[in-house]
Amino acid sequence: MSKKKSSLARWDKTYLWHPFTQQADWEKDDPLIIQSARGSYLTDVEGRRYLDGVSSLWVTVHGHRHPALDRAVKSQLARMAHTTFLGLTHEPAILLAKELVRIAPRGLRRVFYSDNGSTAVEVALKMAYQYGRQQTSPLRTEFLALKNSYHGDTLGSVSIGGIDLFHKAFKPLLFRARFAISPHCYRCPYRRERGGGSSRIGNAGGNISAPKPGDSRKETGCRWECLRSAEVVFQSRRGRLAAAVIEPSVQGAAGMIVMPRGYMKGFEALCRREGVPLICDEVATGFGRTGAMFAVDHEGVSPDIMCVAKSITGGYLPLAATLTTERIYQAFLGRYEEFKTFYHGHTYTANPLACAAALANLELYRTQRLLRDVGRKAGWLAQALDGLRSLPIVGDVRQIGFMAGVELVQDPGTRRPFPPAWKIGQKVCLAARERGLWLRPLGDVIVILPPLGIADGDLRRLFRGVREAILETAYSLSKEDGRLP
Ligand SMILES: Cc1ncc(COP(=O)(O)O)c(C=O)c1O
Repeated sequence: MSKKKSSLARWDKTYLWHPFTQQADWEKDDPLIIQSARGSYLTDVEGRRYLDGVSSLWVTVHGHRHPALDRAVKSQLARMAHTTFLGLTHEPAILLAKELVRIAPRGLRRVFYSDNGSTAVEVALKMAYQYGRQQTSPLRTEFLALKNSYHGDTLGSVSIGGIDLFHKAFKPLLFRARFAISPHCYRCPYRRERGGGSSRIGNAGGNISAPKPGDSRKETGCRWECLRSAEVVFQSRRGRLAAAVIEPSVQGAAGMIVMPRGYMKGFEALCRREGVPLICDEVATGFGRTGAMFAVDHEGVSPDIMCVAKSITGGYLPLAATLTTERIYQAFLGRYEEFKTFYHGHTYTANPLACAAALANLELYRTQRLLRDVGRKAGWLAQALDGLRSLPIVGDVRQIGFMAGVELVQDPGTRRPFPPAWKIGQKVCLAARERGLWLRPLGDVIVILPPLGIADGDLRRLFRGVREAILETAYSLSKEDGRLP
């Protein structure tokens, strides 16, 4: 290890506390210290290159150090790095809002900026609540959310979070949310256990057989029990819901759980029928990650409020936006002393450098026809991923566009997960690191989420590396007695 690396590693372990990291492990491990990045590659302080297989946590779009984005940020920097957005405005924020409204799903006409995905969701929740209070009823104090949902780490977004591992510990601090079951076909509680019989878990009617990997909803006898569960919440909490919140198309942080087609439209229809505003959290899915500009576009869903962040600046700078309809916006207008104002804002709201990066980023979507190219590459990826289903520890493969997850299980026949202490996801990612790939798993789900602009050859390399890393891990498990069935 070079002297520079060893000093940096020591200081990191002495002074830092990393997000979502068990520091006891971190302090023992050899940290990857990144010095530079270009295109789809990261380079560490010792000159080793790693293919960025998760787009630096789902944000990089055209690649690192893209000349157009570099230019846009530098040119904005020459004019102004920052000014407040409270009581002032500026060109990059105005032009970006205009562009966001142009590309947004129908009906979204107003843009409220903040700094990250969690704050975009906080804004959405507060906006929906205050809208309800001013427009319909002060009794609308609850939110409908889904099990397995992840909307960020601030306490509002944790309140509507449905992942026990992340959220349960904070329960006493949270406001009330009502949860419907997750549209998670692989672990659907209403399926029959493999081998037939009527050992269905859960209480919905219907003759449902065990879905196999790749099965469509129809083949598994699905009766939309997940949607029915949402319907029950809508009905039982009538007049109490300020909004219903979903991550459209895919529950990312829970392990790339891709929803069956039709779920979103059904969920939207319930919102409309019950008169409850629909919040779509496109923080992870927005800006082409699922192959469409926004995931709601796959089913023509029109949210009342939509949250975006992550890829908005192409992975350059922190920025987020909460978009809403003119109807919701209008409900906040009034005389000053009526206090209908939306009292929310952050110091760095609409930072001009971030807005300039976002404008340049979105311009490239147009000029490079990025989404068409993503569609082609995602098609190749789908075929390649299909080949992983037969590997010994692969339970499920889920993909939509450039968001993919490979769920590793101890026994694919029964879907039994690995014991958490085995850290199989981390092991596979370490094996991938040996092959020059940077991946970050979600538990035992291996996430493949490359920059949208990745070159064809690099995408193939990424896939090959993931496959080899899974095989190597499965092989080492099979050598240890009793670790695989
Ligand atoms: C759907 C969704 N919402 C919100 C967030 C939170 O975003 P941030 O980490 O920028 O606060 C995330 C982060 O992964 C996310 O996936």
